[in-house]
Amino acid sequence: MRGCWTISSVLVVLVAVFLPRIYKIHDSIFGWFAVQTMVQYNSPGVLDAIEKLALKENSTLLELCIGPGYGVQEALRYKGVKVIGVDVSPDMVKMASEAVQGAIDEGRASVVLGDARNLTFLGDEQVDKVFHMNCCYFWDNVEDTLKEILRVMKPGGVMLSGVKFEQLQQWDAHPAFFK
Ligand SMILES: C[S@@+](CC[C@H](N)C(=O)[O-])C[C@H]1O[C@@H](n2cnc3c(N)ncnc32)[C@H](O)[C@@H]1O
Repeated sequence: MRGCWTISSVLVVLVAVFLPRIYKIHDSIFGWFAVQTMVQYNSPGVLDAIEKLALKENSTLLELCIGPGYGVQEALRYKGVKVIGVDVSPDMVKMASEAVQGAIDEGRASVVLGDARNLTFLGDEQVDKVFHMNCCYFWDNVEDTLKEILRVMKPGGVMLSGVKFEQLQQWDAHPAFFK
């Protein structure tokens, strides 16, 4: 009986930790599952939001909390648009960078590891549009993050925030969002 448990435990560790690494899917089965969930449930909304942004040639889009990078990929389909993606997770930054490596090499895209609250790699008034989806609930200081976004946005810039209503209700939307 004990042998059976040992074999089961070894199998669980193999499936959860090592196989995903061997096959370079993700660092763990949990991370892999999170990415699959995002792709399945979030990506249609992200693609729809990018379309609504009506990106113009020679404009720059900043996407925060890019996850595996499907928003960045979609935005790059618009001719002459530059895209800067930011995420706090090294795994997500790696996946997104790999997905848009060609555009990074051409200088049209950059994918940055960082916190939305601290966009120090950008100067004032550099981006035309800012987009984030399923993101603001994770910000530990909403007011400071919004100030930082305003700093990097050109005058007249537009920010599109994608949220799930049920999450927003739980989160108790911050009044700074409506200023
Ligand atoms: C639920 S996922 C959403 C990903 C993608 N936007 C989507 O809708 O599928 C949240 C993402 O936000 C990132 N994130 C969380 N807090 C962040 C912060 N303060 N700054 C930048 N990225 C953050 C996480 O690493 C994760 O990739």
